[in-house]
Amino acid sequence: MSSSAVTHRRVFRRTDDYTPGTPKIKLVQETLQLPLAPTSVLIKVHAVALNYRDANIANGGNPWPITPNGILCNDAAGEIIAIGNKVKSLVVGDRVGPITDTENISGRETKRSWLAADEDGVMADHIIFDERVLCKLPTYLDWVDASIIPCAGVTAWSALKGMSIGQTVLIQGTGGVSFFALKLARAAGLRVILTSSSDAKLEQIKEKFPHQPILTVNYSKTPDWDQEVMQLTGGTGVDIVVENGGTGSLVKSLNCTRRGGVVSQVGYLGKQDPADLRELIPTIIDRRISLRGINAGSKFDMEDLCAALEAAQTPLNDLIDKVFSFEEAEDAVEYVWQGKQIGKIVLRL
Ligand SMILES: NC(=O)c1ccc[n+]([C@@H]2O[C@H](COP(=O)([O-])OP(=O)(O)OC[C@H]3O[C@@H](n4cnc5c(N)ncnc54)[C@H](OP(=O)(O)O)[C@@H]3O)[C@@H](O)[C@H]2O)c1
Repeated sequence: MSSSAVTHRRVFRRTDDYTPGTPKIKLVQETLQLPLAPTSVLIKVHAVALNYRDANIANGGNPWPITPNGILCNDAAGEIIAIGNKVKSLVVGDRVGPITDTENISGRETKRSWLAADEDGVMADHIIFDERVLCKLPTYLDWVDASIIPCAGVTAWSALKGMSIGQTVLIQGTGGVSFFALKLARAAGLRVILTSSSDAKLEQIKEKFPHQPILTVNYSKTPDWDQEVMQLTGGTGVDIVVENGGTGSLVKSLNCTRRGGVVSQVGYLGKQDPADLRELIPTIIDRRISLRGINAGSKFDMEDLCAALEAAQTPLNDLIDKVFSFEEAEDAVEYVWQGKQIGKIVLRL
């Protein structure tokens, strides 16, 4: 094993106190599990990105099981500082991030193990992972920008898979996944229709990306936003939807997708009420739509995304809303919980 002088780490663990206004995480010092297992590596973390899921887990709203007092976050970028004696694919100094579901290497595995839920996440200054769940990050990106790739990036990549130049995508909301999808869609030559509950956010985004105009719809002001999307597409519908609302918006998303199009079900941000799905089956059959569930992506997906980013040298700094220090993690979780961000919130260590 290559050695490192580090024996302890600082880590935020969840308090599991869901009372509004109380701290959701607590900073503790822990002994690292050393010596490293033969195929494990020790990573010095430089940046941790937050997702809606983290704020939701911290506030008790996650619909899947979580381990008690676990560690939040699945998005990290860091540098390998020690490796086990059987590690083959990585060396000290490599820039890496773990995949979100550590059982999902090729996409064909039968099990699931999500970071920050089934096992500890990455909100720590040092983390240890087996080499098989780590992916090398693009070398042209700084730590903060690279940290948003594993979850938001891979999810957006998976949600847009199969699209081709000139097609139209409907992207819902201005959060992390949506913003990454917007970036990838524009890089891939797709026409974008973006929705938001806020005119101010839509204007800000139009100003940020002035070339290749983005069509926009305010889904709060326009309850029949599906009809508006149909008008914007000349009555045809979009080729694909990055669907973020869940039951409250799914049927409308299907309504404004072209016959034979695709809806990528990514999120569940709205109130989840099965009664809203009454028209699901007739609509999906009538419009011949492929509804596909997105679960971040596999290690292979993350490698493909990193290769695409590296090849195009796509900047990601314009996707970052705000950077907090590690010590400000509680404020960062609350910021995401309140939905204040346009794009990504990242902790820099
Ligand atoms: N399946 C997966 O693999 C996967 C991976 C990552 C995330 N997710 C899920 O995807 C969703 C988005 O995640 P995120 O990290 O991008 O969240 P985020 O950064 O917190 O973004 C949330 C944004 O979505 C918009 N929004 C809120 N309610 C909405 C609704 N009912 N319909 C449409 N848009 C709505 C809002 O944008 P405006 O203020 O502009 O309206 C809000 O700011 C979450 O449900 C998350 O759990 C799933």
